[in-house]
Amino acid sequence: MSLLEDLKWRYATKKMNGAIVPQEKLDYILEAARLAPSSSGLQPYKIFVISNEELKKKIQPVAWNQSQIVDASHLLVFAAWDDYTLDRIEDVFNYTMDERGLPHSTMDEYKKTLWSLYEPLSTESHAHHAAKQSYISFALAIAAAAEQKVDATPIEGFVPPKVDELLELDKQGLKSTLILALGYREEENDWLVNMKKVRTPKEEFITEIK
Ligand SMILES: Cc1cc2nc3c(=O)[nH]c(=O)nc-3n(C[C@H](O)[C@H](O)[C@H](O)COP(=O)(O)O)c2cc1C
Repeated sequence: MSLLEDLKWRYATKKMNGAIVPQEKLDYILEAARLAPSSSGLQPYKIFVISNEELKKKIQPVAWNQSQIVDASHLLVFAAWDDYTLDRIEDVFNYTMDERGLPHSTMDEYKKTLWSLYEPLSTESHAHHAAKQSYISFALAIAAAAEQKVDATPIEGFVPPKVDELLELDKQGLKSTLILALGYREEENDWLVNMKKVRTPKEEFITEIK
């Protein structure tokens, strides 16, 4: 199937049946998320893969009691840096240069320019910018799940500080941004499954400037 057909097939599944997503499909989805582009290549986010039933049960009440939280096979919790620091940026750039067999100094000028842009901003702006990057990875994970015929519910309906607490994210300098529930639709109990997919009409959505 083409990507467009996969995207038409997917929907924000409201009721999942508890079936388990095979490891190779999960790995494929996670790899798509890992390959996402990010601003300056910093990838200022991580993914926590949760299949532990007890933990899912603890997350559900702080996620609007959404049933997909416990009926999903796996929850992918996306968590972004709570701040940009020079140390964090240097670690990523040094790793990149090591992987490319180049001296760390190759990135010195770029690093200086980048830090001159980030340094004056507040911690809140840093966290917001990092969170935006995690959405790109999230979108690719959704598309990859559709390609694998794995249902995926994007979930922003949760209380991030509570999830942060459950996963002890502050110790890692991270804040939860999104949850992607992966699993399989329970068609007979899902009110959304046969509803028309509705999007802004193309002519309204796209403005061509020639
Ligand atoms: C960032 C984001 C957060 C969302 N949060 C929730 C959520 O908490 N619960 C839910 O059931 N759907 C959630 N959705 C699903 C949207 O309502 C849904 O994607 C949208 O209505 C389009 O429908 P479709 O995905 O079925 O095509 C979210 C979607 C996105 C992209």
